[in-house]
Amino acid sequence: MLTTIADLRSFVQSQRFAGKRIGLVPTMGALHEGHLSLVRLANEQCDSTIVSIFVNPTQFGPNEDFAQYPRTLENDLQLLETVGSPAVFVPDAKEMYPAGFETSISVGGVTEPFEGIVRPGHFNGVATVVLKLFLASQVDVAFFGQKDYQQLCVIKKMVADLNVPVEIVMGKTVREPDGLAMSSRNRYLSESQRSQAVVLSQSLAVAEKMIVAENVRSAETIRQAMQNMLLSAGGLSIDYIAIADPVTLRELTEIGADTVILLAVRLGSTRLIDNVLVKI
Ligand code: PAJ
Repeated sequence: MLTTIADLRSFVQSQRFAGKRIGLVPTMGALHEGHLSLVRLANEQCDSTIVSIFVNPTQFGPNEDFAQYPRTLENDLQLLETVGSPAVFVPDAKEMYPAGFETSISVGGVTEPFEGIVRPGHFNGVATVVLKLFLASQVDVAFFGQKDYQQLCVIKKMVADLNVPVEIVMGKTVREPDGLAMSSRNRYLSESQRSQAVVLSQSLAVAEKMIVAENVRSAETIRQAMQNMLLSAGGLSIDYIAIADPVTLRELTEIGADTVILLAVRLGSTRLIDNVLVKI
């Protein structure tokens, strides 16, 4: 287990010296099959995989779950043994943010809508820690899940705007058998909330069907259908339902080409997000 940036650097240098293509899977731990699928993808595409585990304080708002965020390092390391025992980078907060740290990366455009409205500052924290991880490790490629689609857009924009020499690869969202996207936060759900949560992916499936099979092109019609379905499940509130361009994340009124549909809901104090990419 690597805990310092100096150790991470020398590990990467030794791998590079051996001519290896090196991949990074950034995580906050509490690993599940979604994370493991990214590690498998990295193993397929790289000769050497590094998984970082760091619950990044700067991406949590003051009223968010930083303190309660699950920290399950022992279990995480065991799970990683099942996917080829990649190198693991587990820095502490002082290693990533030493006293006097004062820099923040602020990406424009794609950070602004949706999560950017509900979680101000969140993407600055994500972009800052991810760029630090990229610079500390100097990997060739990094893997991110479609599950956090806006985050993926933010990372891609940062990499493009700042000429960061890291290739970004998207891994598909891994779901529970009933369709709920796997998330470290699902464990916060009560039994009844857990059964209500299936409506997120169901509403996305209905929206996809409206576009692909029924040729509906009005974003508002689709949004209304999703809203009705989500609210009829009861017990949840909607933060947003958005039908947008998959690159710029600008909202669409008419669906003309590829589209991303994103949603965020609250079940009690637990916030869940999900999305689907629709091709026509
Ligand atoms: P975390 O929530 O731990 O997620 C780490 C990676 O796993 C992200 O790229 C996320 O999109 C992916 N992931 C989570 N659930 C998934 C699922 N069900 N299917 C596929 N991929 C899934 O995202 C973060 O951590 C942080 O913001 C981080 C990028 C590490 C920066 O701190």
